[in-house]
Amino acid sequence: MPNYPKSLICEDTNTQHLIIHGQGVFLFKTTPDTSSCSFILSSSDKKVKLNVIFTESSIRVVNLETDEPYIDKNNKSGLVSLSGAYFWFSLDSQNQKFYAGVGEPRMENASYKYEFPIPLLEGNKLALESLSTLTFSDSLQPLKLLRDPITQRVPLYVKDVNHLTMNDVALGGIMPSANLNAINQKLYACVSGERFVLDDPDFPEFSKAIEYSIATPGLWCNRRLLEKATEFNKDKPNIKETYLRITLGLNNGESPGIPYVMEIWPVGHYSPVHNHAFANAVIRVLHGSIHVKLFPFLCDSPSSVPEFASADFKKDDVTWISENLNQVHQLKNLESNTDTCITIQCYMYSKKDLKHYDYFDYLDSDVKIQQYEPDSDMDFISFKNLMKTEWNNRPKSKVDYMSMFNEMTSKFKKNVLSSIP
Ligand SMILES: [Fe+2]
Repeated sequence: MPNYPKSLICEDTNTQHLIIHGQGVFLFKTTPDTSSCSFILSSSDKKVKLNVIFTESSIRVVNLETDEPYIDKNNKSGLVSLSGAYFWFSLDSQNQKFYAGVGEPRMENASYKYEFPIPLLEGNKLALESLSTLTFSDSLQPLKLLRDPITQRVPLYVKDVNHLTMNDVALGGIMPSANLNAINQKLYACVSGERFVLDDPDFPEFSKAIEYSIATPGLWCNRRLLEKATEFNKDKPNIKETYLRITLGLNNGESPGIPYVMEIWPVGHYSPVHNHAFANAVIRVLHGSIHVKLFPFLCDSPSSVPEFASADFKKDDVTWISENLNQVHQLKNLESNTDTCITIQCYMYSKKDLKHYDYFDYLDSDVKIQQYEPDSDMDFISFKNLMKTEWNNRPKSKVDYMSMFNEMTSKFKKNVLSSIP
């Protein structure tokens, strides 16, 4: 069987060819202020032609041979004029279904759903299978073609062969690690092992030491978080919008920033809404739990866009990001949690990504898109050694605690109170 690519970046022409006839997803943008657009899906012999029409209030498909419209009665929207919005149409001849929507191409973002009546008509299936070509006017900017159609929700939780059950596969709620894309399978294989843990024989109290460093004024984590309060908003310090990035290894030119990052999220702390430079990623929770909101696209229009899904990941849960899915998210260690959350995130560009955009774009407090260059607060080995030192130097008796308390009080009086007029 030929090795058909999973996706293709569209060339800037008014005709595109599906990767496999009768199936796939077409992603496109519209020129500003476009209130409607359409494209024709046709067979190579032109005997089958569908007109796919997007307006601000609807999406519909019309069979140009029979004039039959394929209407979704629940569909009330189509094009939106929000910044960053893009659109998609999914053709699925095997299941005789059409889906269309805004933002990431997935079931949760579908605003148009059409299923041909049951029983499936063989002639109809053959007609849909013959569709292979898209043609359109200049008001539509083609972005990408995906080989496979939208068929079901894409699971967020990953399990490997030793944890995957028959029920998991039947219910479709779990992503088998074998079904991740090739890059994410590689990343998963690196961080999912039983020995890839925070509290190892070398430092069994590592997570406690990090909690201690965060909670104790003057220690490194506490101090560094305070220093980062203006990281995402230069003029509006916000200690809650901070987290620590401890990096493992070096940037090999295959990822935005260093590929392995241990992120430390104190309770109540969160990231801005941000994307991931179209990179692939695998995220594993090493300690505590994290709440993730997913957004259809990064939007800096005043009304922005709400999340379409959210999920909580606890210790040892693994989730993923691909160039097309789960790209825009916001992470938060919820106020209701008691433990700091620590995650390992690893990133890698797709092989065909020759652009290597090196920034994560994020929304600042004025809902404006800014560039964030993924950086490092400290190298992992240095950080672990520092945590060991801080932990070993912690007060061991009430006398030690009182002495530390007095020392901190005197520093606070000297450095902070004395500066207040
Ligand atoms: Fe992220």
